[in-house]
Amino acid sequence: MSNSGKAVRIGVFGAGRGRSFATQAAAMDGVEFVAMCDQREQALTDFASQYSDVTTYTDYDKFLEHDMDAVVLANYATEHAPAAIRALRAGKHVQSESIAIKTMAEGVELVRTVEDTGLIYMYAENYPYSNVIQEMRYLYEKGEIGEFKYGEGEYVHPVDKRTKISLSPTWDHWRNWIPSTYYCTHSMGPVMYVTRTRPVKVNGFIVPHDYDNPAMAETASRRDTAGILMCQMDNGAYAKIMMGSLKCHYTWCRIYGNKGEFETLRHGGGNMIKVHKEPWDKKPGEPSDMIYAPEFRQFHEEAVRAGHGGGDFFMLIEFANAIRTGEPPYLDVYTGLQMSCIGILAHRSALNNNQTFDVPSFKDAEELKIWENDHYSCDPSAPEEYRLPPSVLGEIEKAPGVREEFDKLAREIRPDWYD
Ligand SMILES: NC(=O)c1ccc[n+]([C@@H]2O[C@H](COP(=O)([O-])OP(=O)(O)OC[C@H]3O[C@@H](n4cnc5c(N)ncnc54)[C@H](O)[C@@H]3O)[C@@H](O)[C@H]2O)c1
Repeated sequence: MSNSGKAVRIGVFGAGRGRSFATQAAAMDGVEFVAMCDQREQALTDFASQYSDVTTYTDYDKFLEHDMDAVVLANYATEHAPAAIRALRAGKHVQSESIAIKTMAEGVELVRTVEDTGLIYMYAENYPYSNVIQEMRYLYEKGEIGEFKYGEGEYVHPVDKRTKISLSPTWDHWRNWIPSTYYCTHSMGPVMYVTRTRPVKVNGFIVPHDYDNPAMAETASRRDTAGILMCQMDNGAYAKIMMGSLKCHYTWCRIYGNKGEFETLRHGGGNMIKVHKEPWDKKPGEPSDMIYAPEFRQFHEEAVRAGHGGGDFFMLIEFANAIRTGEPPYLDVYTGLQMSCIGILAHRSALNNNQTFDVPSFKDAEELKIWENDHYSCDPSAPEEYRLPPSVLGEIEKAPGVREEFDKLAREIRPDWYD
């Protein structure tokens, strides 16, 4: 479906994180926010009632019947692929929040559906669109640090016990059982975006569940503390990717090339970068180290005003442009799956003595056949024959009374989930 000249009509699935996309869509030229779906009716109407012409739905299939061009999926992170497939089959373009897939088989079905329908699928990984990562991409493309040799990406997000319950307010909420390696695209996305390489091999390592951390032991969490992925990229470079709830909240990215290095600053502001060149590699008069806060090279004012580090603004622009032109964005279904599936394979690697896995490109029909029936998952509702433990320690046992206290606190902290 091409939409040249007309506003792109967007519906949003999920009234949590989805509110941010909806606000962005409602404010942006060339895009219209027309519908929203969430089973939490009160939360849905509380938000949507500030817009006069937005239709609300509690049922996803009814929502998909709405007259609109595209849907943004901000429902449960582990249910995106089935929702994307249903939306594509209903003739809607899709932008999907992270993670793209819960199982390898879902990835195969998703890519086949995108190819069958010819519609736009965009993976909504927003971290590459921050000012610092866009600046790194700009410098990399100009050849400033030469060819990519080694990179690191980190996304560390610790929370206290009450925040943990607030973010995952039901016992089997996805944030309580998703393995620590799965939420990997905030750390891998920037490395791939800057260097335009993709992972071809992955090994996974896991810092286990910490029984001394109240946000884990005294909540419904059955996850591990952190995941570390060692990846070989398709140009021969290596990337170390880390994510989890270690005790220092930040995102970070570093890229070494054969002519220099750049990284986001760990201290003094994550919106700054450092560019380094050895004395013999730099041009005369050029400093060895440059530290600065880059502006967005396009749409600076709009992106800063939009909040969320500009990420949501740029993703929506790219999505709408892709729909108008029919040209898939960089974060198309293949890129999205390549950056997401390493989290699934890394967990399996960690459960199997850190075994190396080949990472599929999702572009090769023979590769797809290898994974098309791979339904292994850590979802508590997965069939027994496909169920894997969410922790390297196995199924996490809870002390007596934890469940009862969780049920009480969750209702107190998030009454909007229990109305
Ligand atoms: N990129 C980022 O910076 C960022 C930040 C936060 C969240 N996220 C992602 O956004 C997504 C949503 O995050 P969240 O924190 O809002 O999650 P959440 O689990 O708190 O909320 C999901 C919402 O979807 C609704 N929902 C789920 N299944 C439904 C169904 N079948 N029918 C109707 N409603 C349904 C739930 O009622 C809930 O309101 C996740 O994929 C998460 O990974 C990304």
